[in-house]
Amino acid sequence: MSKFNTKKTIVSAVHKARKAGPHASNAKSILRDANLFLMPTYKRQPVVFTHGRGCYVYDSRGKKYLDFLGGIAVNALGHAHPRIVKVIRREAARAIHLSNLFHNSFQGPLARKLAQWSGMDRVFFSNSGAEAIEGALKLARLNGRTSADALGSPARKHRVLALENSFHGRTFGAVSVTATEKYRLPFAPLVPGVEFVRFNDVADLESKFDDTVCAILLETIQGEGGIFPVSEAFWNRARALTAKHGALLIADEIQCGLGRTGRFFAYQRFSSKPDVVVVAKPLAAGLPLGAILTSEAVAQRVSPGLHGTTFGGGPLACATALEFLSIIEDEKLLENIRERGAELREGLSALAAKFPFIREIRGEGLMIGIELSIDGAPFVQRALLKGLLINCTHDFTLRFLPPFLVTRAQVRQFLRLLEQLFVTTPQKAAALEPAKSVTPSHAALAAAR
Ligand SMILES: Cc1ncc(COP(=O)(O)O)c(C=O)c1O
Repeated sequence: MSKFNTKKTIVSAVHKARKAGPHASNAKSILRDANLFLMPTYKRQPVVFTHGRGCYVYDSRGKKYLDFLGGIAVNALGHAHPRIVKVIRREAARAIHLSNLFHNSFQGPLARKLAQWSGMDRVFFSNSGAEAIEGALKLARLNGRTSADALGSPARKHRVLALENSFHGRTFGAVSVTATEKYRLPFAPLVPGVEFVRFNDVADLESKFDDTVCAILLETIQGEGGIFPVSEAFWNRARALTAKHGALLIADEIQCGLGRTGRFFAYQRFSSKPDVVVVAKPLAAGLPLGAILTSEAVAQRVSPGLHGTTFGGGPLACATALEFLSIIEDEKLLENIRERGAELREGLSALAAKFPFIREIRGEGLMIGIELSIDGAPFVQRALLKGLLINCTHDFTLRFLPPFLVTRAQVRQFLRLLEQLFVTTPQKAAALEPAKSVTPSHAALAAAR
């Protein structure tokens, strides 16, 4: 039954809400509105955050939280970085949107900077990670079709390989290359031509690769899947097979790229580059912006009209992204990420020695997951009460994605808070409880190490 009984009630409710305005709302009424009017896509915590500063956020009651979630890898500069605020203020007063039928002052320079960082040649800007994945998939099909036609090959290069345990987003193409069934199955039939390769399993990759494959898409470090890095052996084989069969190697660096690992891109730990890189999350310091980066040869498959977007690459978002990349360089944040990341791992290893329910520590730089042998969700709840923001993926992995400018003192504060949470966990029950299924399998992962 509708929450409103009559048209008159609707009009009066809307009128009241308008009169009250957002500032007059208190947390209770904000939560009530959210419960009544938002689609139930998230299990949200009953907290209203109002603002942040650096690595801390504050709720509507003024309570302070240490933010080790960073908007799920978006707030890489924390909150209210003065240089970001200044650029947004300045550019908002100049031009928020200009059509892609013209040039703006920032898109070209931002593309140049991303090309320098990545070793790619050309860039397309989107509004989100999933939209960038869509574009990369279209590019793969286009490239496959064009190269198969040129060779006069009867084999249509249309198959896309993705990895088990992957997450690439929620749009139709992105969800079709996302392995987790609960995200896919309710929307079937999905985009055809996708097959999943067992994570880091070279033999499985080889058995599924032939001339009909137009691309393999992988997260260099799986994020939502529980922080699982692709192995060097798997990457090298994927690189060799894509080169041999004229297919594209696409690295989804939406979560792990743009500095998160202490390198500009996570694939830079390997000796070869992908053909396509997809980025988003932290790119415009919290404003929505994604990008597809690729080689000259692949970019030349595209001609005007084949792909596009209204909002992608707007002047406000691009100016902010350019500032974000400059701040990483000026403030030597890659160094900070590596140093704080090492301290974090060291501290977590010390905790693992004390608490037997910590099974494994994974990740690189400031993208770290600890796999537990017990449910992670209750820790997230209790962390929130203690003023700490963390997250749990795949039921058993606590995920930490702090801002790149996190300090040594904040890492220590985080470790203290985490230890307090773990100390209050009933040790016996924790140690005895067996781990439930965790994907990918430990055997596959052992091969990766
Ligand atoms: C690796 C990866 N790819 C794609 C996406 C989708 O990005 P967006 O939510 O911006 O559409 C995400 C989001 O979490 C991600 O982590």
